[in-house]
Amino acid sequence: MNLEQAITDLMNNNRQTINGHTFTVPAPDLYPFQWLWDSCFHAFFLSKFDLKQAKAELSAVVGRPTASGMFPHIINWNYESGEPLPVPSWGREGRGEEINLTWQTPGNSSQTQPPLVATAALKVFKQDPDIVFLRSLYGALRQHFTYLANERTFTDESLVYIINPDESGEDNSPRFDNSLGLPPQHSPAEHLDKRLGLLHQFAVCDYSASSCMSSHFGVADVAFNVLYAEDLVAMAEIAHLIGYPEESKEYVQRAAEVQVDVLTNLRQGDIFFSYDRVKSTPIAVLTWNIFMPLYGGFVTQAEAEVLVREYLFNPKYFWTDYGVVTTAKTEVAFDPENGFWRGSIWHAPHWFIYHGLKRYGYLVEAELIKQKSLKLIEQSGFREYYHPETGAGLGAKNFTWGGLVLDMD
Ligand code: GLC
Repeated sequence: MNLEQAITDLMNNNRQTINGHTFTVPAPDLYPFQWLWDSCFHAFFLSKFDLKQAKAELSAVVGRPTASGMFPHIINWNYESGEPLPVPSWGREGRGEEINLTWQTPGNSSQTQPPLVATAALKVFKQDPDIVFLRSLYGALRQHFTYLANERTFTDESLVYIINPDESGEDNSPRFDNSLGLPPQHSPAEHLDKRLGLLHQFAVCDYSASSCMSSHFGVADVAFNVLYAEDLVAMAEIAHLIGYPEESKEYVQRAAEVQVDVLTNLRQGDIFFSYDRVKSTPIAVLTWNIFMPLYGGFVTQAEAEVLVREYLFNPKYFWTDYGVVTTAKTEVAFDPENGFWRGSIWHAPHWFIYHGLKRYGYLVEAELIKQKSLKLIEQSGFREYYHPETGAGLGAKNFTWGGLVLDMD
């Protein structure tokens, strides 16, 4: 198979242009909208062979923020064009109508997803030093970061809090079970009800995140905060490049503060765990998130060695013939078959782990992760996630994240 051609075809098939905004949907049947971190993933690998579309993807994703400046995790562009709204096959069977799923901007979701846009923009810029493009994104980016810093933090620290598991990008990861009041075993419908219930509670308190975050749901997620710090570093570089040295310093400073707070408040021995503000407790559930400090360069070489040898490549916890499971096999919640984020293998975690390993000089190990991703695609095609014991493709078909292998070099 010519991989680049297969990915190009997949992306072209999933591409949409609505009202002049061109973007790629993650999977036409299941996810027929623009998604925030998906579009950043797209920009990462499109920057290798289709710069025009990489830029379009990012321009669209910053193009419809909420009035508070937040980038929503879903943009339903049809809403703006007046075209009929697509109904995804997971269609919320009417439940969405009872709940105010939208906050401030019709057609936008009321939640965000991990911050990656600045990193993606910089990556595109490194392939094509188009300063006009960077400038065109900067205002919206700045507002999003101002929103996160002002509305998603508590006064005693710089960590940002998510208000729903969906914001982590890992909708049903077991690290949120306890915060949702769910036992390790429950049905997908029970889980969805809890998440929709949260949206309802936040709608009632008008998304005043600071008060809702200490009463309903407020989690300082490890991956989200590592990515936040990394994106702040990218913001600093962008601000510097386009001639805003004071703002650049501001981002450098904030990134350093976030890093200190991740190291101080989220570390439990060798492992970094997310923190539940409502229950005032660390979330001691082993998910692939424990490797995100490698991606952000937050640990020493000796600490990295522990994560890599004792956890990552250890078949007792995370390692399988097909790569890294999203939830450790030792967790009671581990469910590789139907678990979604509860044990199957996904391409994006592989991509983050690959770059984390490279950052610490684990070149052979990083290559191994890439080979596992390639093997999954060769065996089962472009699927949303995969069974860790058989490599069978699961979830959405024609799912775009497999394209990330083109950005493993
Ligand atoms: C699923 C994933 C989420 C992704 C979305 C669209 O909800 O959990 O991370 O953004 O699909 O692909």
